[in-house]
Amino acid sequence: MRMRKKKNGAKRIEACSDIFIKEPEKNKGKWKEFSDFKEISIEIGCGKGRFILENAKRNPDKLYIGFEKVPDVIVLAMEKIKNEEIKNVFFICDDASRLCEIFDENEIDEIYLNFSDPWPKKRHAKRRLTFISFLEIYKKIIKDGGKIFFKTDNRDLFDFSLEQFEKAEIEVSDVCFDLHNSEYEKDNIHTEYEDNFSAKGFSINRLVGTVKKNVSDKEV
Ligand SMILES: C[S@@+](CC[C@H](N)C(=O)[O-])C[C@H]1O[C@@H](n2cnc3c(N)ncnc32)[C@H](O)[C@@H]1O
Repeated sequence: MRMRKKKNGAKRIEACSDIFIKEPEKNKGKWKEFSDFKEISIEIGCGKGRFILENAKRNPDKLYIGFEKVPDVIVLAMEKIKNEEIKNVFFICDDASRLCEIFDENEIDEIYLNFSDPWPKKRHAKRRLTFISFLEIYKKIIKDGGKIFFKTDNRDLFDFSLEQFEKAEIEVSDVCFDLHNSEYEKDNIHTEYEDNFSAKGFSINRLVGTVKKNVSDKEV
């Protein structure tokens, strides 16, 4: 997502300091104590925050963490949450490659990947958030039985992702190539990108991955 640099960006982030976690590594292994919530969901690449806001409103008993690498974007998401006085959302500005430094094994219940950057060139495949090296990271931090929800308008990325989930041995279900005309639409929360691409005539692909851990992967 390319954006013009926000005026007063640092000041605006500072104004959201109560929901912005500056040193997230310090909470590694302690996120449930930190938050007092029993379940934790992360949205990776949360963008401007419409999805996380609505998800948090629908599920006030869960903690939501908006994870986004671009400061000028995350500030917009944080301001949305502050305006609505939502209490179950926090934000981390970092790169998804560092998730294992921030979250311990099995600490997370769900991950959402909404309209991740497609990186269409083959030589950039490793940057896709559904590349196997990212899926292996998610597998570590997600608990046994935890879910990864992925949706995208980009059919090539979707087909690539189906292969990567299979390689990573993450069970895939609820695959759908036209989300807005499917049984899943009634609970679907539209993101900013989703409305944009859908208005241009793209159909939306969606899958759910379930992480099943071998006994050797589980904490004893
Ligand atoms: C195409 S936008 C989609 C935004 C939002 N999810 C939506 O559907 O409207 C992808 C977002 O993912 C973020 N992003 C991409 N790679 C990332 C990474 N490795 N770690 C964290 N955020 C990332 C980008 O900065 C961008 O805001």
